[in-house]
Amino acid sequence: MYFESHAHYDDEAYNEDRHELLMKIKEAGVGYIINAGADIVSSKRGIQLTKEYDFIYAAVGVHPHSVQDLQDADIEELRQMTAEPKVVAIGEIGLDYYYEHSSKDIQKRWFDKQIQLAKETNLPIIIHSREAAQDTFEMVQSHYKTLSKRGVIHCYSGSVEMAKEYIKMGFYIGVGGVLTFKNAKRMVEVVEEIPLEHILIETDAPYLTPVPHRGKRNDSTYLVYIVQAIADLKNLTVEEVVKQTAHNGKKLFSL
Ligand code: NI
Repeated sequence: MYFESHAHYDDEAYNEDRHELLMKIKEAGVGYIINAGADIVSSKRGIQLTKEYDFIYAAVGVHPHSVQDLQDADIEELRQMTAEPKVVAIGEIGLDYYYEHSSKDIQKRWFDKQIQLAKETNLPIIIHSREAAQDTFEMVQSHYKTLSKRGVIHCYSGSVEMAKEYIKMGFYIGVGGVLTFKNAKRMVEVVEEIPLEHILIETDAPYLTPVPHRGKRNDSTYLVYIVQAIADLKNLTVEEVVKQTAHNGKKLFSL
């Protein structure tokens, strides 16, 4: 049973065929999906999906793209959402200096406040980090000891050394479609070097579609390509990778 640790099925990309697609994904052997929140509205939609589909769970949080106008009242709203039974994480939260939709200071402030919320609600965090490796790492380093459930670095893109440091702090490394890209040299190295016990698989659907479907809409049935790539690199069977990454996901999100 595949454990999809990061997807966005509340996204409008699925408005035409969401139900049919989710049924197809379930039939393909995906047993768990963590739907990651992008903002307040998307987090609410994610919770709605958890009520309609037994295999969907939700993370609630505000992505660094959308923190510009955030207010403390929004954090309180997220806190109320965590009372829902199938909310299992705070995310996705973090820093994005590639787009830099808001200043670094604003992004750090709301990342920090959402980490605090995870501490207070005893939930793990799902971290988004783009072109912000060092600042993200420092934030995690200053908080991890008091985060009872730690979390995952979603769509990891940093160095092998940093991945090992995250693992020491009890974090998981999210591996997705980028691993199948031709220029994935760095991720190949990361997957070769870190133990499978610290890897979660993810599609980030509808984004980051793996080869051979790159450029088209992504969905969780394409986890097969990511699992195959990991199995090839680590000389394991597909079944071994599916089983261990599902075990990891259930452990992190207490399922
Ligand atoms: Ni995402």
